[in-house]
Amino acid sequence: MGPFMSDRKATIAFADQTAEFPIHSATLGNDAIDVKTLGDRGMYTLDEGFYSTAACESKITYIDGERGILLYRGYAIDDLAYHSDYLEVCYLLLQGELPTSDQKQQLSQQLQALYAVHEPIDQIFHAFSRDAHPMAMLLGAVGALSGFYHGKFNLKEPADRQLAALHLIAKMPTLAAMSYQYGKNQPFIKPEAASFAENFLNMLRAPAAKNTPIDPILIRAMDRIFTLHADHEQNASTTAVRTAGSTGASPFACIAAGISTLWGPAHGGANEAALMMLQKIGVEANIPEYIKKAKDKNDPFRLVGFGHRVYKNYDPRATVIRETCHEVLDALGKRDEPLFKLAMSLEKIALEDPYFIEKKLYPNIDFYSGIILSAMNIPTNLFTVIFTIARTVGWSSHWLELLNDPNYRLTRPRQVYTGKTKREVIPIESRDFD
Ligand code: SDX
Repeated sequence: MGPFMSDRKATIAFADQTAEFPIHSATLGNDAIDVKTLGDRGMYTLDEGFYSTAACESKITYIDGERGILLYRGYAIDDLAYHSDYLEVCYLLLQGELPTSDQKQQLSQQLQALYAVHEPIDQIFHAFSRDAHPMAMLLGAVGALSGFYHGKFNLKEPADRQLAALHLIAKMPTLAAMSYQYGKNQPFIKPEAASFAENFLNMLRAPAAKNTPIDPILIRAMDRIFTLHADHEQNASTTAVRTAGSTGASPFACIAAGISTLWGPAHGGANEAALMMLQKIGVEANIPEYIKKAKDKNDPFRLVGFGHRVYKNYDPRATVIRETCHEVLDALGKRDEPLFKLAMSLEKIALEDPYFIEKKLYPNIDFYSGIILSAMNIPTNLFTVIFTIARTVGWSSHWLELLNDPNYRLTRPRQVYTGKTKREVIPIESRDFD
């Protein structure tokens, strides 16, 4: 019996039988009924979208959607956002504890030593048109890294697995900045020995701005965006990374699976989609029409940046990033810019609308992160790329947790088959359908 198996049982009665199943005890949140042997009794569970299905046990992140709580290794996200930084959060997610200053310094040096990418990677970008979406370029570049490092990491060795994770965390900002510079037809800027966020912002600069200091408020805002997006339990992209990891695939290929999944507008692509939605709404006078569309069951339009599969309360990250959003708008003197005034009006109207209140649809992290990045003059199509940089440590931590468990299993769900029953092939010459 594993450490969290209890001797409690759940009884499930179906068809002509009753069976007992063990219960896994959680330290926080829901316990789980282990239904692994249900298939042997001729029955499956069906839970499309996995609303009530735990795919694994994990010690990394805990979310209480009803109470709007998010913990990274037991630490509340707002505590970490205000009293820590992204490098410390990387150490925490990877190792399970906050670092000492020596440990933090060591991690910083390890990552800085891995920021650079092989020269030939530049060629990957030149295979794209200048207007290709940066997520497509990033996806291609990370997939290409699996070619450069194929066979270089023995995934049976914990030290090799850790090193592969550090390569991915360190190189993601470099590749992200390359996707941006290639799109602008500007030279790639080499990574420098600076803080994670400052190094990234530095690599985004135009050649002419190379020597102007970066506003510390923008560095802090970017670091906080990284911290708030670092991990989020078993979301769609983390599930993709764990699924790929369970087959023994290259860590670079596993993270590429996460990037592909995150890109969708229902998930990490929501920050880009939220900004595009605000630009489409255009002026405050149009808000009621779009709120009406969002509430109309026959209209596919949804208020992007609102609602969440798990949070049925305020997304605790949104609370923090909303404050950062106002700080950045004030620091840049952009609070009165039409787009940002529109966003604040939309937030106010949605929060007071009975439909959104009843369905517990609150602004999520993507609503505000898009506004901050836009105020920082970061192009909309780079928003999900920035989410990818931040989330690479979360994906890597889950990949490591999976492979560190000697009992992990290949992910292979079953199905409820509703297709044709077995039938014979009729030779084509006799297959005259009337
Ligand atoms: C992220 O999982 C994570 O952890 C993800 C993430 C992370 O850090 O990894 O937190 C990041 O992906 C945040 C979410 C970003 N996505 C968006 O902002 C896109 C807009 N939001 C919706 O698409 C939606 O809220 C989802 C996809 C996020 C969640 O949808 P669910 O859980 O599948 O809920 P649902 O579609 O069943 O909606 C429940 C009801 C429905 O109405 P009814 O059928 O019950 O009448 O609420 C309605 C929906 O129509 N609804 C919305 C809405 N979101 C849900 N109506 C209008 N606008 C919306 N945004």
